Amino acid sequence: MTSALKPVPEAGLKPNDLEAHFMPYTPQRSFKKKPRMLTGAKGMYYYSDDGRELLDASAGLWCVNAGHNHPKIIEAIRKQAGVLDYAPNFAFAHPLAFQAASRLVAEMPGDIDHVFFSNSGSESVDTAVKIALGYWRMKGKPAKTKIIARERAYHGVNICGTTLGGIPANRKVFAGAMMPNVDWITHTHNIEKNAYSKGQPAWGAELATDLESVIQLHDAENVAAVIVEPVAGSTGVLVPPVGYLEKLREICDKYGVLLIFDEVITGWGRLGKATAAERFNVLPDMITSAKGINSGTVPMGATFCRKGIYDAFMQGGEFGVEFLHGYTYSGHPLACAAAIATQEVYKEEGMFENAQKMEKVWEDALHSIKGAPHVIDVRNIGLMGAVEIDPGTTRKPPEEMSRAWEIFDKLYWEHDVVCRFTGNVIAMSPPLIVNESQIGQITDKLRKAISSVK
Ligand SMILES: Cc1ncc(COP(=O)(O)O)c(C=O)c1O
Repeated sequence: MTSALKPVPEAGLKPNDLEAHFMPYTPQRSFKKKPRMLTGAKGMYYYSDDGRELLDASAGLWCVNAGHNHPKIIEAIRKQAGVLDYAPNFAFAHPLAFQAASRLVAEMPGDIDHVFFSNSGSESVDTAVKIALGYWRMKGKPAKTKIIARERAYHGVNICGTTLGGIPANRKVFAGAMMPNVDWITHTHNIEKNAYSKGQPAWGAELATDLESVIQLHDAENVAAVIVEPVAGSTGVLVPPVGYLEKLREICDKYGVLLIFDEVITGWGRLGKATAAERFNVLPDMITSAKGINSGTVPMGATFCRKGIYDAFMQGGEFGVEFLHGYTYSGHPLACAAAIATQEVYKEEGMFENAQKMEKVWEDALHSIKGAPHVIDVRNIGLMGAVEIDPGTTRKPPEEMSRAWEIFDKLYWEHDVVCRFTGNVIAMSPPLIVNESQIGQITDKLRKAISSVK
């Protein structure tokens, strides 16, 4: 690595200084013994406290779509911090919130033309659910309160998202605090039928009919909305079968149920377009968003909705608050400045086009891993990819590392690659600026790491 880029870890940062941080989603006792400490970043690379340059195969947490520390985005944030650090958006406003809203809705498909700002994907999901409930009340159908989600979904960590997410391990500790009035449809992942699919699997559209059964079970008069990730990301890149999302839309239309796409991962170029809705040509009623909205630079969430939904709230006296919801930092000036600059960067530098161009290269490189030891599936779409690992029967996690965990660990320490693993899946989502040679490096190193575990 070039020494000019080498970040200087703060003086005195020693392992026993790591105690106070109660870490998110991390086995922190083992982490604190041997921390993977990232101290700088640029473009496709992270820099670690031990002076290494690491290829970022996961865009941080699926969010740094424009690549790290993009000068234009950094400059926009710096400039805004010196002009207006904070202004409330409750009964006041600042211009950038409106500019960001107009700029972002311009990228949305169909008549999705309004956006509500929050600070995270989790909050964008909570907001979508509250909009759905409020919408039906405004429409004179207050019984429509049931929310339908899907197994193997991740919708964040608030009580709402934890409830909706179909991940048993994430829910069981909090079972007593779950949101009522939720049901789930079956997930679409099926290795027997669809292993090694490139892009959308051919089999499985009929699984969408489960939605019809669940709506009938509860009676459409009681059902407000269904929420799905168009491609489930955090549970291992589960790509929707051909025709599946279209069928969900048809069923929602038939029964008068709102369709929410959780696009916290799939938005902003991850699938080569601004939204998965555009990529799959299926128009939902709401889209939840975060992460790539400003390339992960400042916390920001956004819930987009169709015109009819916004309009339904605009009734009653003009001095009544139409939607009793909002966060102190909704539409924060720094987040808005970052979002506007990020959208400009995406356009000026053709990043979505690069994602389209690289999709086939990514697919071919990833699928070349088929046949490596322990690999039981490879799947991909856009710049998302997953390699599923047979966990075997001899390891005993959490007392020992699982195979996928060890591969992830070796990638970091021995191959200078940052990626994600979730369950038995190595999941990857490089920044949209990735090139052919970097894709080759990621997949070669992944193959080596996989081949070196027992
Ligand atoms: C589809 C989806 N929804 C919601 C979230 C939650 O986002 P956040 O972690 O910003 O709250 C995530 C995070 O990975 C996600 O992938």
